[in-house]
Amino acid sequence: MVRTFNKRVELFRESPTRKIDKIKEEEARRGKDIILLSTGQPSIPPPRRTRELLSRDLLEESSHLYSYTPTRGYASLIEAIVEDMKYFGVELEPEQVTATAGGQSALFAAITSLIEPGDEVIVLDPMYFGYWPLLDYAGAKVKTVTTTFQGGFQPDPEKLKEAVSRRTKMIIVVSPDNPTGRVLSLEAAKTIADLAVEHDFWILVDEAYRTLVYEGEHVYIYNIAPGHTVALNAFSKDPGIPGWRLGFAYGPAEAIRRIRLVVQETVYCPPSPAQRLVEYYLRDRETRLSFMEYLRREYTRRRDTLLKALEEHLPEVVAFKPQGGMFVFADFTPLLKGMTAEELAVRLLREEGVAVVPGSYFSQTHKGSIRLSFSGEPPERLRLGVEKIASFLRRAG
Ligand SMILES: Cc1ncc(COP(=O)(O)O)c(C=O)c1O
Repeated sequence: MVRTFNKRVELFRESPTRKIDKIKEEEARRGKDIILLSTGQPSIPPPRRTRELLSRDLLEESSHLYSYTPTRGYASLIEAIVEDMKYFGVELEPEQVTATAGGQSALFAAITSLIEPGDEVIVLDPMYFGYWPLLDYAGAKVKTVTTTFQGGFQPDPEKLKEAVSRRTKMIIVVSPDNPTGRVLSLEAAKTIADLAVEHDFWILVDEAYRTLVYEGEHVYIYNIAPGHTVALNAFSKDPGIPGWRLGFAYGPAEAIRRIRLVVQETVYCPPSPAQRLVEYYLRDRETRLSFMEYLRREYTRRRDTLLKALEEHLPEVVAFKPQGGMFVFADFTPLLKGMTAEELAVRLLREEGVAVVPGSYFSQTHKGSIRLSFSGEPPERLRLGVEKIASFLRRAG
């Protein structure tokens, strides 16, 4: 008997950060202290008040919290999300929102339900690596529009226009961005919205970091092109429950209905305890806003510490100051001396115990860059991480 496997599923290669995680775990098992500059994992738990509310539910003698929920999520969660989005200026009807099992489940459901094999999809380079396997699986023909350090990683309107063709069915934009931390400008958002409406294609906007903006303002593209925009969100970063798997998608009801069907067939319903926790969080506006403010203050402090350490210890490196998100994207090309950024990342982890992610995981062009996270470590360890990178490069150089 010859056992065969589905070839399309082989397009689901291992996530690049999982590769780094594996080495990290090996080194940690050997007792090495690892400075975590690789992950978009928050190191701040959700507000205590919210956790206290959930803990009462956990002690109730009822199976309610352990039961299946509707695929779209509890009606009360959807109401809380609608109210929250309204606070941020986005008016939605409940049928325009569906909860998902984390941002990843929203990505999969949206891509598989909005495009067909052979459809052209425009993406910006660099881009969050999570999209590549999904686009390959969906059979998309990907066109990239390169963004640059000098251009602040904003997409050039002319390049966007050039990329659009009769076969364009979607553009993917992440804002605030992973890996660069760029917050999409109003001008770029308008250009994208105008093109989508004129040529009738989807804008898939990933807003996983929408409340983590340190300078400027998050632009809700949905408000500019509501008929053409599907937005993906996650609660992994704010309030910081990546392991609890909860996100949501919003957009035109007809698109959301299809996305919900994919969620139904893959996970049936998003996890109930996470839904309850997020509902408590969003409904308690005072706690929600003060926690958001706390995250912004804390991450701004960490970002600035990381940037300052890079400037002091690695002046040859060109680092982009992120306006949002959790990462600093920095060009290490002048210091690589024949190494690839991936080789540098592996050696830093094995020899110095510093975990970073190479730019090649996000980009065809910024291959000499490195993504450094400022979400997973306190300021003093961010500084120490940069010092270790600098001392390694001095020795290697
Ligand atoms: C831009 C972006 N989108 C989506 C996701 C996936 O979200 P989740 O962790 O909730 O699955 C991530 C995760 O880091 C991300 O950075």
